[in-house]
Order: sequence, then structure tokens, then C-alpha cells
Amino acid sequence: MRTRRTLTALTAGLAASTLLLAACSSGDDTASDNGTSGSTGGDASEVEVFTWWASGSEKLGLDALVKVFGEQHPDTKFVNGAVAGGAGSAAKDLLQSRLQAGDPPDTFQAHAGAELQDYIDAGQIEDVSDLYKEFGLTDVFPKDLIDRLTVDGKIYSVPSNIHRANVMWANPTVLKDAGLDPAATYSTMDDWFAALDKVKASGKTALSVATTWTQVNLLETVLIADLGADGYSGLWDGKTDWNGSDVTKALTDFQKLMSYTNTDRDGLDWPDATQQIIDGQAGFNVMGDWAEAAFEAAGKKAPADYTYQPVPGTDGVFDFLADSFTLPKGAKHPGGTKNWLQTISSAEGQTAFNKAKGSIPARNDAKASDFSEYQQSAMESFGKDTIVSSLAHGAAAPVATLTAISDATSKFTTGASDLAQYQKDLASAAAGS
Ligand code: GAL
Repeated sequence: MRTRRTLTALTAGLAASTLLLAACSSGDDTASDNGTSGSTGGDASEVEVFTWWASGSEKLGLDALVKVFGEQHPDTKFVNGAVAGGAGSAAKDLLQSRLQAGDPPDTFQAHAGAELQDYIDAGQIEDVSDLYKEFGLTDVFPKDLIDRLTVDGKIYSVPSNIHRANVMWANPTVLKDAGLDPAATYSTMDDWFAALDKVKASGKTALSVATTWTQVNLLETVLIADLGADGYSGLWDGKTDWNGSDVTKALTDFQKLMSYTNTDRDGLDWPDATQQIIDGQAGFNVMGDWAEAAFEAAGKKAPADYTYQPVPGTDGVFDFLADSFTLPKGAKHPGGTKNWLQTISSAEGQTAFNKAKGSIPARNDAKASDFSEYQQSAMESFGKDTIVSSLAHGAAAPVATLTAISDATSKFTTGASDLAQYQKDLASAAAGS
């Protein structure tokens, strides 16, 4: 699904945020601590929250949310069920085993869009529409986001944030030392290749990357650059042919980009690749804007210490993903879940969390000036850009498709590098065969 949202709509809600913040601090939101009302009555003594925000800047984001939770729901104990591994690379399998064994956490992190649909189709999560009414959420999230959480008129999760996956980060000193203008923008892949050549010639890693999922994140941005927003979106609804020559061109560009990357990539996760930019070992990196939180946590300031711009060729496109939280069927502490969902959906919870996480609030009444310059630019882009769904982060395709694409990508980048075979493997992955 593609959509547009105007900046006016975003800013129009700002005045309302003051009122909502006032409502949040009135103490109303602790009224349900005993968990006896609404769609999730029940034990509110604790809540096990399952995420993959286990360390570094991601943990700082979770900590900020937990602090607000402690203030809003002092009688509900927060139990951290985080499982390490960027993009849920280890968490999602473990979660599935727990769900299938009838041992769900009280709530878990799930991406809006196709990934959430998987849990709905498997009957693993409850309809939480009543909470939208009870917490007054129906109008505070963008309609297109709610659509990605809704099936047959029922809403199945509560969003905490919106991330952008097509950001290119750079170290300005490394670029300068390579003879490049750190303020330059790159509008095409070819412009970018010329810059990558210079960084490579200077002896630094031109493009830092990490394990398979980060390579898939890179791949999706190249597909957006080369196919355009419509062509890329068509990959997920069958309108774009995976065997077409424009996909071949994108895969050729992806292969070339991978030739500029660090050889130790497969043993690293995203924070390591971002750290190479922070430490001046690498010139460029492509990563979702959780990287913004890592730069900030390291005390770095843009544009002196790092720079950002859309991945070359993707300006005007916002590669979207959103984290959301669920009420699993059979959760042991549904009252605790309800309290957690209240905090993550509150203006206070979303502001505290997103300030630390690099993302932008899902709520449309956030105050832009509370956020970093990067985040303000992301809010502006989200308001005016064409929105496409992230592959690597569960918005575009079901988990099984993403797994098959990831396997094909790993085979391609660690093995024989047979481009024609890679394209065939991707086509079968997308077709589900
Ligand atoms: C994404 C998730 C983000 C961030 C990132 C890196 O899938 O939505 O919140 O955690 O993975 O781990």
C-alpha cells in the first residue's frame, strides 16, 4: 500500500498534543491497573514484554519507555523478555516456538503490515479494537498505519513508532580525507559508485554492512532506487516481474555495492557496522534510522560527526516500517498487557521512547521540536514522501517470504555470486515456491 500524508496534518495535531499530555498526567491512565475492565481484563500484576531491543541504543529506547510505564502503572511489574539480534533475527523463531507451545509472552513486538498478518492468520493474537476506543486512539494514528494493523474491521496491535529504512549515513572526515565534499548529495547509484571508489582508494572501508538482514535492508533500498516506488511496491502485489531486466539491473548494482563492503560483515550486527562510521573506519553505511539513536548515544552530532541523506536514487520515498505491540492469545497477564499498550500509545510514552530510539512517533500529535534534527527531517519526509513498505522489517512480505529472500541473499553474498541464479531464487521466494 502506498500513501501520502501532509505535513499540515502532522502539525495540525500539535496543539491537540498539549491537551492529550495534560490528560495523560491527570492520573486517568492508572485507573485500569487492576485490569478488570475493557477487552483485556485480568491479571495486571506483571507484564512480560518480548522485543529484540536487548542492548545498546535499542535498550536505551526500551528503558525510556519502561520509565514512563513505571510512572503510569506502578503496580504492574515490567518483565524484560528481550532476545538479542537486530531486526528480530533470533527473536522471531523463538517467539514462534513459544506461541506454538502455548507459552506466549504477555505482549510482543511485531511489525505493522504483512508480518502482523501472519500472526493474525495463525490465530495467535487478539483483537484490541476496544482499547482504541477506551484509550481514544482511533484518530491519533495515521489512517494508513491503522489499515496495516486491521483485518476485517478488527485492529490487532498498537503501534509505538515509525522507522525509515532507506537512510545513508556517512562519516564526513572519512569522505573529506578521500577528496569528497562531505555535504554532497548523491542522486543516482552511479554518482554514489564514483564516491565509493574514492573512499576505497583512500584505504578505508567504502561501505560498511553486517550480517544477512542488513544486506537485505541494503538490497531493498537498491530495488527502490532502480525500480522507483511503484516498481518496488509492485514486487509485493505481483505487478512487477521479479524476472524483469530492471530487477537484473538492481541486482547488478547490489552486487557492485557489496564489493565495497567489509569482509568481516557476516559476523557483525547493525551496531557494529554503524560503529565503523562512528569510529571513522568506513565512509558510508545504509541502515534504518535506529542508527540515529546509536550516533546520539555515542555523543555524536550531525553534520560535524556524521551525515545522513536518503539512499541515492530514493529521495522522495520513505521506506516505512512500524513496530507495534500485541495481546497474544492465552497471555497470562492480560491486565498487564493492557497497561503496557496504554503506555506505548500515550503521548508521553511515544515521546520518551522515540526520542531515544531514532524513530518518529506513530501518533500524529507529537511535538516536532521535542526531537532531533534528523527526526524532524524524517517527520517532514513522512508527511510528504511516497511511502513504500520495508521488506527487511516485515511491512512488505510475510515472514516466510522474507526468510526465503534472506536465504537467497546469503547464498549470493557468501557463495558463488551467480546473479542469474540469485534472481531466479528471489522470484521463487516471492512466489512462495
Ligand atoms: C527493526 C525494528 C527496529 C529496530 C531494528 C534493528 O526490525 O523495527 O525497531 O529494532 O529492527 O534491530
